[in-house]
Amino acid sequence: MSDMMKRRSAEAAADHVKSGMKLGIGTGSTAEQFVRVLAEKISDGLEIIGVPTSERTAALCRELGVPLTTLDETPHLDLTVDGADEIGPDLALVKGGGGALLREKIVAAASDEMIVIADETKIVGTLGTFPLPIEVMPFGLGATELAIRSAAGNIGLTGTLALRQDAAGQNFMTDGGHFILDASFGRIPDPEALALELSAIPGVVEHGLFIDLARLAVVAGADGIQTLTR
Ligand code: 5RP
Repeated sequence: MSDMMKRRSAEAAADHVKSGMKLGIGTGSTAEQFVRVLAEKISDGLEIIGVPTSERTAALCRELGVPLTTLDETPHLDLTVDGADEIGPDLALVKGGGGALLREKIVAAASDEMIVIADETKIVGTLGTFPLPIEVMPFGLGATELAIRSAAGNIGLTGTLALRQDAAGQNFMTDGGHFILDASFGRIPDPEALALELSAIPGVVEHGLFIDLARLAVVAGADGIQTLTR
């Protein structure tokens, strides 16, 4: 997706932001555009306060002068705006490509509304082409992998689990100090069933299936912005 499309999607989402709102602020290259749009509106007089979903987003907000708070100080938010790796039927999402899925889900769940910003390549008929990020405890990794394979098998899914690496070739570490397994299960026809299976595994901290969280997606394409609702 070009930066221009990301920017357009971010601008469309920013139209939903009103002065006085408490915002969840997502992570990723599209969310970065949203932070930039937000910063411009703040310098024009918009008054908001935001909870960032990653250290990366927090750093950008500080750099651009977007006021921040925490979920401890501000436990209930009006709106979260965040990107996605896939947008499926009923606005079920795959998220976590940027490794921030745990904080992203906590923040989205604390918000009255979630708006997804993306380009049209993120829209899929069935989730699963993008590997599903699963955040796991480093302790007991082997046993957790085995449990994930077994859980997926319970609903007829098989595939590979890849332990995510960072640019230096080390195990990627999330802001919460966990690892990420990227699961290539292929098509996921029943995301709810997989989400339930994964959530029942003790070593799984959180998974990147976001179900019943987003109410609106503003998706940029060559023909402009399309709005998806559920
Ligand atoms: C980070 C995410 C991102 O929202 C997702 O990866 C989309 O990123 P981008 O806007 O760069 O395509 O879930 O954990």
